[in-house]
Amino acid sequence: VLYDGACPVCSREVAWYRGLDARCAIEWRDAAADDALLPAGISRERALARFHVVLPGGHARTGARAFIALWQQLGPLRVLGRIAALPPLPWLLELAYRGFLRLRPWVQRQARQLSASSAYPRWLERDLRSDHAGETGAVAIYRGMLAVTQHGDVRRFALSHLRTELRHLRRIERVLPAARHSRLLPAWRIAGWLTGALPALFGPRAVYATVAAVETFVDRHYGDQVARLDADDPQSGLRRLLESCRQDEVAHRDEAQAALTAPPGVMLRVWTQLIGAGSAAAVMLARRI
Ligand SMILES: [Fe+2]
Ligand SMILES: [Fe+2]
Repeated sequence: VLYDGACPVCSREVAWYRGLDARCAIEWRDAAADDALLPAGISRERALARFHVVLPGGHARTGARAFIALWQQLGPLRVLGRIAALPPLPWLLELAYRGFLRLRPWVQRQARQLSASSAYPRWLERDLRSDHAGETGAVAIYRGMLAVTQHGDVRRFALSHLRTELRHLRRIERVLPAARHSRLLPAWRIAGWLTGALPALFGPRAVYATVAAVETFVDRHYGDQVARLDADDPQSGLRRLLESCRQDEVAHRDEAQAALTAPPGVMLRVWTQLIGAGSAAAVMLARRI
């Protein structure tokens, strides 16, 4: 049996069939895992496009006829396989299978989103919600800055950071389905926009001090999650994603600190303290709502 192990629908179905293969008479090969697992004459594209069963003689069946051949080999499904082989059932089942292939990308997306949303422990889902809210706010910060400032260096700085934050946002969106996003996103956008626009009114020093304060907080926020994943599952793709975001934020922080030529005055220190406290409060809220 050749199946698409990268497809959550196919792998779930195959797992169920494998459980029925009591005699272990069937070889199951994941066509998505390794080209070397494929029999001669069947390309990876073909194997991934349609379900394949290769019979002992080397003859391949695909689509509905492959399912029928498989059912006939599985004890509890043997009768079903015999009935399904009677004309015109193979033809009708093939029509249904082709219909499924058209729906498959959509079904796969739904299944991935579902498994993505239920696969996380509660703490991680909450943290990811706060990460998503944070990146939404980060994008808004730079939009707010760009809406206000005409300063060339600040615009270049904000534009390059904006690109990175948009990439972060898209990457987090890929691992956290929309249904799990914070319901306060409009508030995070407004808060972010103001956090960028206000200092931009006062000039580059206020902008750099603000970004340094925000990113100092974000570095710690991502760092805590990475440390926790290190203990649970150091090889996970999620850990890699969060760590790569964290490194970008550290680079943002360092860039802002390097651009700060003089230490911030009293007003600016009060403002950056406020930002730290505001970020912590926002994370607390976004984790829950
Ligand atoms: Fe970010
Ligand atoms: Fe950042």
